[in-house]
Amino acid sequence: MTLRPTLEPPRVGARLAGTGSATPSRVLTNADFEKMMDTSDEWIVQRTGIHTRRIIDKSADENALTLATQALTAALADARMTGSDLDLLILATISMEMHCPPTACQLIAAVGGQNCGAYDLSAACCSFVFAMNTAWGLIRSGMYRNVAVVGADTISTFMDYDSRGRSTAILFGDAAGAVIMRATDDTSKGLIAQTMHSDGNRWVDLYIPEKMSHFPEGVEPNPEALHRVQMNGKGVFKFAVSTFPDVIAQTLDAADLKPDEVDHYICHQSNARILEAARERFGLPKEKLYVNIDRYGNTVSASVPLCFDELRRAGRVHEGQRVMFVAFGGGLTWGTSLWQL
Ligand code: UT7
Repeated sequence: MTLRPTLEPPRVGARLAGTGSATPSRVLTNADFEKMMDTSDEWIVQRTGIHTRRIIDKSADENALTLATQALTAALADARMTGSDLDLLILATISMEMHCPPTACQLIAAVGGQNCGAYDLSAACCSFVFAMNTAWGLIRSGMYRNVAVVGADTISTFMDYDSRGRSTAILFGDAAGAVIMRATDDTSKGLIAQTMHSDGNRWVDLYIPEKMSHFPEGVEPNPEALHRVQMNGKGVFKFAVSTFPDVIAQTLDAADLKPDEVDHYICHQSNARILEAARERFGLPKEKLYVNIDRYGNTVSASVPLCFDELRRAGRVHEGQRVMFVAFGGGLTWGTSLWQL
């Protein structure tokens, strides 16, 4: 059977009914990095805008599942719901606890959900934004009404906190964030436009090798680099500086909106310079493009929902506003999700 995409207007809308987030207890400052490797606070702040990031404390049993559970519990409370009200849970992550079961199944059990669809979705730093678009499609089709989308990552487990990790460890941190989506009869609310892109030829720019055969042509296989983030920082930076604004422009075009008609741009927190370049290209005031990379670094799938939760809890997000979620990352992948709240 061929299922054709429909261009009919949606018969249901979706509300973003609650948010939550969680960050681990251990704080790593730039001064801590100065003690661990040959780097400086000045270098890190100038090149990235990061002052602190948080990483899990394994001895306290913190992991992606515990962070995701805290974030989802907070989001459910915010939406005045319980885990048993959920029909579907999508966990956006590259930090699955095991290959099987999906960490999402452990997560839904942890919040008391039963008979709820639960699966992990993995698209590197785009996981959360792609999961938002996927969730909207499932609500729009009428198949699901109460969906939780959670982004959680503990990228610190793929880092060397010594001179070997100098160009990566300073950038990243751990966190989780969650959003509850609910179907509504008000069809003015929901997703207005979205994009999801990939260029698999550029996977070599950002990858985590699991075995010796995973090292790309031209790279000497190195057992010490297994399970460690390998990144062409300069290449990814150049890609992001042009792609971030392009994908925002493409989404605005699709929605027939001008840049200032979107109230908040919630962008993946990869580097303060990348965010600033995007803000300048559209002439946006600082308050429209939220930045918290200075406190948390790049938290992969958690970066976008962590920003959104902070912004909401600060009382800056209101019904009737438009919010664009934007991300890019390994794959390479990039995409957007533009919402009418
Ligand atoms: O979710 C997506 C994930 N990835 C990204 O968004 C990454 C995007 N890329 C970046 O943010 C930047 O490329 C970095 C912050 C990673 C690096 O900044 P850069 O300005 O591109 O620096 P670079 O890699 O060109 O390195 C410049 C110099 C090098 O030394 P030499 O060869 O010029 O002597 C590095 O070895 O800086 C050196 N360096 C450092 N120095 C002090 C690299 N890391 C450090 C460090 N402290 N932590």
